[in-house]
Amino acid sequence: MSGLDPEDFAPLRALAHRMLDDVFDRAEQMGDGPVWQPMPQQARDAFNLDLPEKGQDAEALYGQFLDQIRPYSNGNPHPGFMGWVQGAGTPIGILAELLSASLNDNCGGRDHAAIEVERQVIRWAAEMVGMPKEASGCLVTGSSLANFIGVITASRVVSPELRREGLSGRKLVGYAAETAHGCVSRAFDLAGLGSDALRLIPVDELHRMDDLALAQRIREDREAGYHPFIIIGTAGSVDCGAVDPLEALADIAQAEKCWFHVDGAFGAFARLSPEHAIMLDGIERADSLALDFHKWGQVPTTRAVC
Ligand SMILES: Cc1ncc(COP(=O)(O)O)c(C=O)c1O
Repeated sequence: MSGLDPEDFAPLRALAHRMLDDVFDRAEQMGDGPVWQPMPQQARDAFNLDLPEKGQDAEALYGQFLDQIRPYSNGNPHPGFMGWVQGAGTPIGILAELLSASLNDNCGGRDHAAIEVERQVIRWAAEMVGMPKEASGCLVTGSSLANFIGVITASRVVSPELRREGLSGRKLVGYAAETAHGCVSRAFDLAGLGSDALRLIPVDELHRMDDLALAQRIREDREAGYHPFIIIGTAGSVDCGAVDPLEALADIAQAEKCWFHVDGAFGAFARLSPEHAIMLDGIERADSLALDFHKWGQVPTTRAVC
């Protein structure tokens, strides 16, 4: 045999049909079993074997999936899962993943339909929060990466010389609420700015960034010779779902000539709720926005837009 396709597709097709039935049986009965169960050592040991020298039979591998992987999954599709902000996925999303895997498109470029799908998703996300339809973006693995891209983009727009010269003594600083997700400070670290360059601003009794404290800290930083370049508001904090006063932050960003980035990892979707949309007023003024489809959007695989 040459190539990686099976000589006979029939057994693989039969296995695929069985898998699909098992997948939907599980989806239908999801609420019947436990949300989560600990993985016994014996099951863990199955993933501590030597590198196999020969390929393995698909049936046998599927058996291993059923016995040693599926029972010990994260549990977020279960109706009783109460953990954080993780989405549950959907049965239709499982099929979308199947179709997308069957195409195996590389969306890094070239001329094909998946690129148009991606562009449409980005246009719709922008429209959903009230940004102009021409807003651009890209799909990445999650809001950790999307926030990082926001920080990198802001620093290069505000200080274009960074691209060639690096920081070269520039004292760029940014601002987020003390309750901002940990990935924001890691973004400063990864961007080479240093996590100390992220000033953590206190929150009020509603867990929203105190905008007066923000304005004060910016003044102090300027007096001390720092260069404020980005204000990061959170729309839906990971600890309790608080939304920073986005209009006030946008005003300060405008007055201070700072980039305004919003981390809307899960909360940006509240823009679709007639009742709650008003809480996010100001999000449409963001220069960049991170939002996750795999949280309230319930898309099964981690996928975010920036
Ligand atoms: C507010 C907020 N920002 C960023 C993130 C990081 O998102 P991801 O896990 O998609 O990288 C999360 C994840 O829970 C979050 O809630």
